[in-house]
Amino acid sequence: MKRIKAIYPGSFDPPTNGHLDLIERGSKIFDELVVAILRNPEKDPLFSVADRRKMLEAMTAGFDNVSVDTFEGLTVDYALRVEATTILRGIRAISDYEYELQMALMNRKLQPGLETVFMMPAEKYSYLSSRLVREIAQLGGSIDCLVPELVAQKLREKMDVAHKFEDGEQLARKTDFEGKSKSRKKKS
Ligand code: PNS
Repeated sequence: MKRIKAIYPGSFDPPTNGHLDLIERGSKIFDELVVAILRNPEKDPLFSVADRRKMLEAMTAGFDNVSVDTFEGLTVDYALRVEATTILRGIRAISDYEYELQMALMNRKLQPGLETVFMMPAEKYSYLSSRLVREIAQLGGSIDCLVPELVAQKLREKMDVAHKFEDGEQLARKTDFEGKSKSRKKKS
């Protein structure tokens, strides 16, 4: 019997409940599903590829037919390398469709043997994106229902480090400013 292996490529910076929803749906229709994190040297991600991999591995530990991997270069080349026949992508709203269609057709042009399958996550995740999660976390909003608890925890740790760094910088600037104004006073 023909087994269908699919890859689910993406940035996953960070992985969200929407991604998890799609992974769960994909795991039900494909024999094997590889969540493939793009290693993109041009992007400046919030989480390292290693962190994203760890988070996704923990999130998908309960699915027997799901694994996590990373790749560089073209998605179609990666798919061929791991002998997958299908690319899984999520479509949340019509606004995703244009970009996803363009990418799917370009991937088909590059590699006609590969099929792209679109799946819709649950409606409650239709407005959810990694970009918004990053923004909300950076501005101190609650991300609790948007990402799994382990991702929320990692985001909180990142924000704490960033705030401590900012506080440290502000203190250094203040000390520097006070130091300079004291020495100016001494001179006058
Ligand atoms: O989660 P994202 O950022 O929407 O994922 C986009 C991704 C990684 C699927 C896309 O950028 C991609 O496939 N990049 C790899 C390079 C590539 O194959 N480019 C040609 C796409 S037609």
